[in-house]
Amino acid sequence: MAKDIPDTATLSFGDKSINLPMSSPTLGPDVVDIRKLYAQGDVFTYDPGFTSTASCESAITYIDGDKGELLYRGYPIDQLAEKSSFLEVCYLLIYGELPSATELTDFTTRVTHHTMLHEQMTNFFRGFRRDAHPMAIVCGVVGAMSAFYHDSTDIYDPWQREVATIRLIAKLPTICAWAYKYHVGQPFIYPRNDLNYAENFIHMCFAVPATEFKVDPILSKAMDRIFTLHADHEQNASTSTVRLAGSSQANPFACIAAGVACLWGPAHGGANQACLEMLREIGTVDRIPEYIEKAKDKADPFRLMGFGHRVYKNFDPRANVMKESADEVLGLMGIEDNPTLQVAKELERIALQDAYFKEKKLYPNVDFYSGIILDAMGFPTSMFTPIFALARTAGWISQWKEMIADPSQKIGRPRQLYTGAPHRDYVPVSER
Ligand code: CMC
Repeated sequence: MAKDIPDTATLSFGDKSINLPMSSPTLGPDVVDIRKLYAQGDVFTYDPGFTSTASCESAITYIDGDKGELLYRGYPIDQLAEKSSFLEVCYLLIYGELPSATELTDFTTRVTHHTMLHEQMTNFFRGFRRDAHPMAIVCGVVGAMSAFYHDSTDIYDPWQREVATIRLIAKLPTICAWAYKYHVGQPFIYPRNDLNYAENFIHMCFAVPATEFKVDPILSKAMDRIFTLHADHEQNASTSTVRLAGSSQANPFACIAAGVACLWGPAHGGANQACLEMLREIGTVDRIPEYIEKAKDKADPFRLMGFGHRVYKNFDPRANVMKESADEVLGLMGIEDNPTLQVAKELERIALQDAYFKEKKLYPNVDFYSGIILDAMGFPTSMFTPIFALARTAGWISQWKEMIADPSQKIGRPRQLYTGAPHRDYVPVSER
């Protein structure tokens, strides 16, 4: 049912009064359309970090931060994590509806047959230093895809956009696995069409040519769920980066490389690595109060990694599923007494009772438990963010496609509140 909202909002300042159109989304707060504000009022709005600004229209993902709800195309994340699979979720994000059985088979076949990389790309990997962080390699290789796949860089050709989409989803596991193999000095393992998406990734990471490697179904199921939970998250920093890069009409591989670079930061996707390193540094439950105090101390830049979120102010629904998964995976592997998991659970318990965390509505986010599962699977911490990037590629490319098809989209070009020197004349160096 349409909400009863006024047609316009009025902004008054000085002797001006400007009527700004309002619109109502299907879910979430109403929106004041300020596009004509500068033309009519000669003023800008100021909103660093876009805390109150919608930068686009989107029909892909919705978050209700107060309810702790995340929907992909309307479907709750917990239902998808429990009942769906990552490739089905990719289809849903990209095309807008759950696939029929035939559509899913066709999509899966197309992705499976695009998992190999151009053979010359192996030289590209070898150009990196051995000790390069896998995220540096992933960022470089994804950007380099535009040098290898020229036939899918024309953003105005729907078929080329489709091919680029399939290539990105199919090749990211190979790129991430090979970044890892290069990092640890092992031979690259080629993708296999008889394995499913998550199995294939685990196989490419952990198999070696000298012996047969069987993927544990418990681990591939957990991996698939991690991919699903990270697949999209509306207009977060890396997705906005992809859209901003795309708004200049850059090719899709360049745009996704920009997203990878943005994701790397510890305030965003890099938090999963930082979180596990923090839990290990804490080491034992008796040291938790010391770290809680550090996190609350304004003079100390330390933050509890894996805690807090710009949008979730109740709980992060992904964290709940991830916590259940951590219990399940470690239980099935017979390592439920894992000391890092014990520290994480106790840290969560203590922080959630603490007045500071309660008042600021800081709850565990998706990264709090994901690292524990990935660590138990055998991944080094440096691989945590590449795995996030692999999964988020589904969301990035869906959002990029949506943006390209949106006729109201313009090149992203924010304004600024200038605080530098006013006009002044140049003084020759001899007179300074
Ligand atoms: N530990 C201690 N204090 C915190 C934390 C934390 N993890 N997060 C926020 N605060 C405090 C912050 O100091 C500020 O206090 P005050 O009001 O006194 O200045 C208040 O809470 C609000 O924080 P903010 O930085 O203004 O909030 P934000 O919305 O800009 O930042 C965040 C959100 C996720 C960057 C932040 O909570 C953070 O740095 N968390 C740790 C890093 C992390 O886990 N990131 C992963 C996010 S989820 C995965 C993803 O989507 O990338």
